[in-house]
Amino acid sequence: MSSARTALSNAALRFQESAIRRTGILGAAVPGLISFAAGYPAPEMFPWADLQAIASDLLARHDGNTLQYGATRGYRPLIEHLLAHGLKDRGISAGFEDVVITTGSQQGLDLAGRVLIDPGDVVIVELPTYSGAIAAFHNLQADLVGVPQDAEGIDLVALDASVTRLKREGRRVKFVYVTPNFQNPAGLLMSAARRRDLLAAARRHDLVILEDDPYGSIYFEDSTRVEDTRPIKADDADGRVVYLGSFSKVLVPGFRVAWMVAPAAIAQKVELAKQAADLCSGVFDQRVVHGALDRGVIQRIAPTLRSHYQHKRTVMEQSLQSVLGDRVTWTTPRGGFFLWIELPAGVDDLTLFERALKHKVSFVIGSAFFVDGGGHQFARLSFSGITPEQIREGVDRLARAIANNQ
Ligand SMILES: Cc1ncc(COP(=O)(O)O)c(C=O)c1O
Repeated sequence: MSSARTALSNAALRFQESAIRRTGILGAAVPGLISFAAGYPAPEMFPWADLQAIASDLLARHDGNTLQYGATRGYRPLIEHLLAHGLKDRGISAGFEDVVITTGSQQGLDLAGRVLIDPGDVVIVELPTYSGAIAAFHNLQADLVGVPQDAEGIDLVALDASVTRLKREGRRVKFVYVTPNFQNPAGLLMSAARRRDLLAAARRHDLVILEDDPYGSIYFEDSTRVEDTRPIKADDADGRVVYLGSFSKVLVPGFRVAWMVAPAAIAQKVELAKQAADLCSGVFDQRVVHGALDRGVIQRIAPTLRSHYQHKRTVMEQSLQSVLGDRVTWTTPRGGFFLWIELPAGVDDLTLFERALKHKVSFVIGSAFFVDGGGHQFARLSFSGITPEQIREGVDRLARAIANNQ
């Protein structure tokens, strides 16, 4: 009989722990810690009364289907609502056969990876990119190649050069993963021109684009218009974009309800992969989310969420400006949950992280978002899930940690 360790697959032996979760675990052991690490939505914005009413109505009906297994594709009225409103409003025209409800868009990343990646295939990601996507693709034995960003988004000259080189080396480049709206971690909004040119580059190199968009609705109205967040998928004339949306940031993350819109041939395989993964996403959760759409709850709270997070962003920026303005640099995020700072020269993210814990503040190290071993001069600060007072106090603590670092 093999020992548990020798029984593990080669893939499992290479599984990586999420740096964000690890940071959270380290931080949880520190009493009184202020965490800039977790990118959680603000719990004070959860629409408790509406959710209570919707859930209670659903349960009062004693309809067996509410608590039964459901279709792998997802709850049909939820998909139909998305097709008629959520997707249409984003400029995406799709049919029922193109949509799969997923258990969070994190599952969407895994399932898209499962149907597109063979071991050793190349996936292009940005430098930096979402660490949960790195984990998903890495675990499927993809070879992740990073392409830098400039102020407008992924650098297409560098993308062209990388893809050309990789193809010359006989490698199979499968897809490019991007988060055009308020990227996690850099907070960057990809320009409209860059989106168009990325689609053209994908066409030229015959690549799929995996577009992850959990933050698109959280744009800050002082600098951003809804048109600026138009998904690449909306202009996908030849069916090469797989789009992921999620209810985690615009309603609550605890339901784990999200969706994928993909060319039907991909969606069909994703449905089969999902069948093997979990049969279906939580049926009750999907019905509550559908109720929240149907009663206009999500639409009603959207402007409040935008101003709530915009305010917290401003508080964090002002705090940083006043105590660290001459030491760290950043670009103002125009939406989303994150402020991405460049640390003073000579300050390393890992060393600072250790020191920050002693000052009872945490963040996610920049290098967790880089697939090329770089990023040690950056830190991701999340302002979404904590109060303005905690933001001010946390930035003071961070400033003390940086001052003690050298
Ligand atoms: C870019 C990105 N993609 C996907 C996810 C996963 O979200 P979900 O809660 O829908 O699984 C997150 C969560 O933080 C994220 O930031």
